[in-house]
Parts: sequence; C-alpha cells; structure tokens
Amino acid sequence: MDIARTPATPDGNPEMADAAYEPKAPPEIRRSDYAPFPWLVPTTRLEFELGLERTRVTARLDVERNPVAAVSPTIRLNGDGLELASLTCDGGEPEGRMMDGDDLLVTLSGDRHVLEIVTEIDPSANSQLMGLYASGGMLCTQCEAEGFRRITFFPDRPDVLSTYSVRMSGAKAQFPVLLCNGNRVDSGESADGGDHWAEWHDPWPKPSYLFALVAGDLVARSDSFTTMGGRDVELNVYVRDGDLDRTEHAMESLKRSMKWDEEVFGREYDLDLFNIVAVSDFNMGAMENKGLNIFNTKYVLADTETATDGDYDGIEGVIGHEYFHNWSGNRVTCRDWFQLSLKEGFTVLRDQLFSADMGSEPVKRIEDVRILRGVQFPEDSGPLAHPIRPDSYREISNFYTATVYNKGAEVIRMMRTMAGEKAFRRGTDLYFKRHDGEAATCEDFVRAMEDGTGLDLEQFRLWYSQAGTPKVAATLSHDGDVATLKLTQTVPPTPGQPDKKPMPIPFRVALFDRKAGTHSGEQLLVLDRASAEFTFEGFAHKPVLSINRGFSAPVSIERDVSREELVFLAARDDDPFARYEAMQELMTGYLVGSVSGDLDESESEAARGDIAEALKAVVEDDQLDDLMRGELLMMPSQSYIGEQMLVADPGAIHVAREALKTDLGTRLGEALHRLYDRAAQVPFSLDAEAKGARKIKTLVLSYAAASDPAKAAELAASQYDRADNMTDRQGALMVLAGLDSAERTARLLDFYNRYRGNALVVDKWFALQASSLHPQVVAHVEALRSHPDFNLRNPNRVRSLYMAFAANPAGFHAADGAGYRMIADLVLELDPINAQTAARFVPSLGRWRRIEEKRAAMMRDALERIARAPKLSRDTFEQVTRSLG
Ligand code: ARG
Ligand code: ZN
Repeated sequence: MDIARTPATPDGNPEMADAAYEPKAPPEIRRSDYAPFPWLVPTTRLEFELGLERTRVTARLDVERNPVAAVSPTIRLNGDGLELASLTCDGGEPEGRMMDGDDLLVTLSGDRHVLEIVTEIDPSANSQLMGLYASGGMLCTQCEAEGFRRITFFPDRPDVLSTYSVRMSGAKAQFPVLLCNGNRVDSGESADGGDHWAEWHDPWPKPSYLFALVAGDLVARSDSFTTMGGRDVELNVYVRDGDLDRTEHAMESLKRSMKWDEEVFGREYDLDLFNIVAVSDFNMGAMENKGLNIFNTKYVLADTETATDGDYDGIEGVIGHEYFHNWSGNRVTCRDWFQLSLKEGFTVLRDQLFSADMGSEPVKRIEDVRILRGVQFPEDSGPLAHPIRPDSYREISNFYTATVYNKGAEVIRMMRTMAGEKAFRRGTDLYFKRHDGEAATCEDFVRAMEDGTGLDLEQFRLWYSQAGTPKVAATLSHDGDVATLKLTQTVPPTPGQPDKKPMPIPFRVALFDRKAGTHSGEQLLVLDRASAEFTFEGFAHKPVLSINRGFSAPVSIERDVSREELVFLAARDDDPFARYEAMQELMTGYLVGSVSGDLDESESEAARGDIAEALKAVVEDDQLDDLMRGELLMMPSQSYIGEQMLVADPGAIHVAREALKTDLGTRLGEALHRLYDRAAQVPFSLDAEAKGARKIKTLVLSYAAASDPAKAAELAASQYDRADNMTDRQGALMVLAGLDSAERTARLLDFYNRYRGNALVVDKWFALQASSLHPQVVAHVEALRSHPDFNLRNPNRVRSLYMAFAANPAGFHAADGAGYRMIADLVLELDPINAQTAARFVPSLGRWRRIEEKRAAMMRDALERIARAPKLSRDTFEQVTRSLG
C-alpha cells in the first residue's frame, strides 16, 4: 500500500485526478480551520475475517447528525489506499457517493442512517506498520494517529467517539489468540473446528485511533489487580512462546503503575481486563489502545542476562506511560491532533513522576533534563521548531516530537511548581471530572488548572503558542547588605514566529553564604517581564547564586558566574540538579572556550585543574550514592556543547572533548581506579546500590579508555568476561568497541555468537558498533548494512544501526561527508517502505545552519538529493522541505 496521495480535482473526480505524477506539496492542515464533524457515530460494528494476506473488513456505522455542527449533505469517510468492496446505506444503494483523493464521500439526506462498508486489505503487504499489519506470523494494528483509515473508511479523527463491538474470526491454528479492545463477550468455533471466532465489546466510547486488534500464536503471563474501588482486573502480558520468562518486570511495572495512579492522581482502572501485547515490528515505543496496549518488544522483554539497567527503567517508564493514558488520553482524549500535547505532555509528566517515585528522584530529573536538552533544545533552535501546540502540519506523524512530548511535560510541570502539589492535584481532578468522556483541548486543561489551583495563567498560555527555548541572562550584584538579582529573558525567533512576547518563567532560587556553605531557604521567583530585578537583604558578603534548581523552567541560562563559584556549587549545592548543573557548566564552559580559542594555555590549565579538583571531590564524597555520583562524573554530550555555540565545528568539539577526557582520566586515574575496585565488589542485584556500582564501573572505563587505552582494554575485557548481567557486559563492550584492540574483535564476535537469535540483543550489537568512537566507524556501519541480520523492514533494527550512527558525531559528521550521504541514502531507500521511520532521520541533516560551512554545504546537498526524489512520502516531504526552507 502506498501512502502518497493523488491530488483530487476540483470536482473530486478520482479518474480525472489520476494524472501523471508531479511532485506537489501535500496540503497544510491548520489548527484555526477546526470545525466539529457534521455527523456522530454512536456505534460501530466491525467484523474481521482474518488472513495474513487477505483480511475482509465489514464495518457497520450508525450515523446521525451532530446537533452542534454545520449541516452537511455528505459524510466524509477517510481512507488511505483502501479498496472499497461494497457500500450500502440503510441496506441499499446510497443516494450518491464519490472519491475525494483517498476519502469516500457519501450523500446522506436524512438525520440518521446505517452505512455498511466492506473493504479487503493485505496485512502482509503493509510495510508502513500503520493500520492492520503482519508481524512474524501474527496480525496487529497501529491506528494512532491516522492508521484506522487504512483498515476501513471511517471519520478517522479524534473528536468522533463511538462504541465498538467487534467480531474476529480466523484459522484457529494460525491465530489461536484473538484480542480486541474492552471485554471478550463470546467465542466459538466453526463446525469443522478449523476456524474460530471471538466477539469483543468495549463499553467506553472511543476515537478510532484507540482501536486495536491482535491475532496470533501468543502466550500470556497472567496476574490480577484489585482496584481501590474493589474491582478485580485480569492482567495479561502476551508474548511469543519462549519469551514468557522475560515478562516479569513488565507485569510488576504494570501493577505498580496501577497502584501509583490511584494514590497520586486518584485514577482507577475502568475495565475488568487489561492486556499488553509485545510486537517485534513497531514504529514507536508503545500504544495506549483501550484495554489492549500494544508494545514494542523492547519495552516489555527483560531479564538480567539480556537487558540493561537502562532497559529495565525504560520498560517501567513506558508501561507506566501507556497505562496512565487510560485517563490522560483515553477517558479524556484530544479534540484534534493539534492538541496532541494535551495527552502526551501530561502523560510524560505522569510517567516521569512515577519513575521518580519508584527510583531516585534527583537522578530521574537529571536524566529527563538530559533528554530535553539533548533532543528538544536542538529541535527548538532549528528549522523544525514548533510550539507544543502546533499551528499547522502536513503529516501529523512528524509531530510526535520531543517538543510535544518532553517540553509539553515541562510546561505542565511548571504549573505544578507554581501551584504546589496539592493545588495541582485539585487542578487535575477538576480536569478529569469536567472532561471525562470528551475530546478536549489544551485550553480546556489550562482553564481547569486555573479553576482548580487559583493561578492566573493568562500570560502562561504563551508556553503553548510560542516555540523556541527562552534564554535568560542572570547577574547578581551586591551592595551594602543587599544582593540584587537581575534577570533578562529573550525568546529567539523561530520559523513563522519572528517576534516573541516575554513568558512567565518560574525559577527556584537559593543564595548561598560563601563562608558557611549554606543558604537560608529556597524561593520561587517568577520572571514575567522582559527584565526584572529581585532584591535580597541581609548579606554581608556577596552570596553565590543557585538558580533554576530542579530545572524548574525549560530555559537556557547564561549566568555571570566565576569558576570558583561553580566549584563551590558543584561541591555543596543541596539541590542535586543544581549541583549536577554546576559540574556540567564547569566542563561546558571550558570546552566552549577551548574550541573557540578564547583560552590561553595558562587559563586552560587552570580550568582543567579546577574541573579535576571538582571531580575528585565528587569521587571522594561519601555522602553521595553511586547513581548520583555517576551523574556528576558524566561529561556533557557533544551535541549539548555544540548547542552552546552559534555555529559548531563537530570535529573540533570532538577533539576537545576527547582531550579533556584524556586529561581528566590521567589526573584522576588512581582515584577512579579505587572507585572501580570498590564498585566491582558489589554483587549483582537490581537495587539502587548495585545499579549505581554498575554505572560507575562503565564510567571509569570510558575515562580510562581515553587516558590509558591499553589498560582500559584489558579491564573492559575482563569486565566483559566476568559479567553476570547485561549492564556490565554491554558497558564493557561499548568501551571496547571504541578501541582498536584485539580485545575488541574477540568480544564483539563473542557477543554476537552468544546472543544471535535474540533480536533485542542483536540490536544492541548493531548499535554499539554504530555509536562507537572507533575511527573506522563509517566503514563499520557500511559493512553492517550488508550483514544478514540487517533488515530494512524492522524499525528496531534500522534504528539500532542508523539512529545510533546519526547520533554519533564522530561518524555522522565525518569530515568528508560520508555520514551525511549514508543517512540520505537510507532515507531514500526506506521512504517507500516505512515513511514514518524514514522521516525520523531527516532532522539530523536539518541541523546544517548550526554547523560550520564546509559540513553545512554537504548536509544541504544530502537534503537536496532527498528532495529531488521523484516520489516522496508526505512524512519525508514535509521534513525535508522544512529543513531546507
Ligand atoms: N500515543 C503513543 C504514545 O505516546 C504514540 C503513538 C505514536 N504513533 C505514531 N504514529 N506516531 O504512547
Ligand atoms: Zn503517549
């Protein structure tokens, strides 16, 4: 099935529209054009006769006029590449029908009608993985955002809510398990026993994007949960035979999510059954279909032999995320796709708070900020910048972004910070109560927050409409016993938004007494003008400023701070995030200065000495737990350093960053190795202490790799050989993969042989090589492209090789442009197969404006070559055009 559109002629005649292809911009959809759908669809009946190559879908829609919408003589039923087998209206021929592009328009003159639509689809040919598709012999669906229209003709928009009943039938041997949304109400077999069927009913009205179906040969881990209202819920995690012993963590995570949402948000589950199914071909992480969550296997399967600590955390977070959508997404859904952050931003915040409660709150906060700054800040400062509530799109799949998700979560977190936890809960309670069963807007959410908390959020709404990361300059002056903090904000221009208004920015702030090393309490300051001054009395000496504690606002700060003050904060700020931040700033400041040539040799030497001293204090601070210590020892990422510069030279940053690593590894060698030896004594477990020890070990290895490669290779090889868990083994192999040593080759081979056949671990094997610091990384990736286990049709495998590579500056930004060409080749080859996944590779090339000119020209060339392709998907077309624009 092809998703490229044929443009409709003005009279909507599909035959006429079928002219020779000419590349033409797909239409732009605007938020301001929203109008309610003229028809309601109170009930939907679906019958599926399932087959991998041929599935017949009979849809019966009860439709009636929507009293609050404009009267229309037709109903628009969206389709995408569908063939209509038959159509009746009230049992007969409809008064009129025509195709408008891929959509079906049916003339309806009465107030109520019954439409019956039959389509036939080929799931095995569906490589886009949207709609109904085959994955390893099973059938499954992905309907968000606009996949349902690839199954049947339907008003495929989130504001059309319908109650679904579904009958599925198919060969019993091929599809022993038949699952759908809601509850299974009946089942049976054909007379000869070859076929069987199941009848499902979902009592909760839902938009089509939450529809799901699974048919296949699956086994389940089953459990149960009793809700706070006393409802017994049957829980199942379905996987392929053989994977069952890797589902325990997913099930435990699910039960913890259900309990946590009751305790923290007062949200109770609302069906008797909750199913999760793991699928190995999946475009995204997971999907919150009502009562039938479908997951990428990556976010379900784990045991300590094959999954890292990071994988365990990822599973807990994503299981929580999808479960929490049952309220923030399903019970209250979105009016239109411009409101996507209504459910995604809020649900990301909910999963972040959940994970923080399950593990280390400060470490979770630091990890979340690292993702925001590593992925969202670049988005916000590049050609694809958009507000968390976009104003227009051509392909909605392109807007499942870090901005909508992660910045969206930060925006709601700021409301929580300003309101306080208790008032925030009153706001969310009111939101759920007011909009339960509705398709709501971001504006509805903000209004419920205002009414529930008493905050005035008039100006705060700018966070929904303005793109770009605000920059705040902070200077602290001192006179007599008064300290004055001057804050000035600018919100940079972004595409389509040249002029910005000042936004309210909440800062948690503390002023430290330099001598005592303490402060007398944290304050919340809200900067709501372009510039403001805040005064603090009672300071005999100039205090040290600790600002944006806990990362209370998603902004970047330029503070007038000395290195000595940063060393002070890195050693004793009582806010763990602020402490981490001071350490990062110490290193980032040095690296930016050194790349820009702003530091002479003695300044450089002094700076490196200070950084080493600060790190040494962290190594030796016995108040710290190792998880947090690991954060403080981590160097800023190359892309974060690049973000601090107007135009970055990736080659120079890479060299400077590696040189600092070498220097620090040398200066701290002994202290780091003592730390390693201590950590190596901690026996394996999944508790925080043991996780911290594992984090430390690999971190020490990576410093050692820079300062003493031979010793690092030996140490890493022995960590690899003795590993009794994937975290240690992968960490060691990651370090080895960057070293040109005999140990490298042997351990890579061992890893592959040990885990071949386990797709998720083979993904790691591809990713480790693609993200390595090895000088031959480009050639390695080229060779891996031809490996028999590489498969362009499996998104996990594509990402493991190429996403890892695109995120590896040492390879992607290779000086001869080979990395850019490789990604462009991939996009062109993948686009007809899986447009959504292909389009996700475009933003890396779209960063060209912020890269030095030689590389920038080659990045542009790569984009232009993609743009010249005779036929591009809407997804890739939109991303490439915006990136060049
Ligand atoms: N709602 C899903 C989640 O965040 C993501 C679905 C994304 N689908 C897509 N076609 N982009 O959990
Ligand atoms: Zn989500």
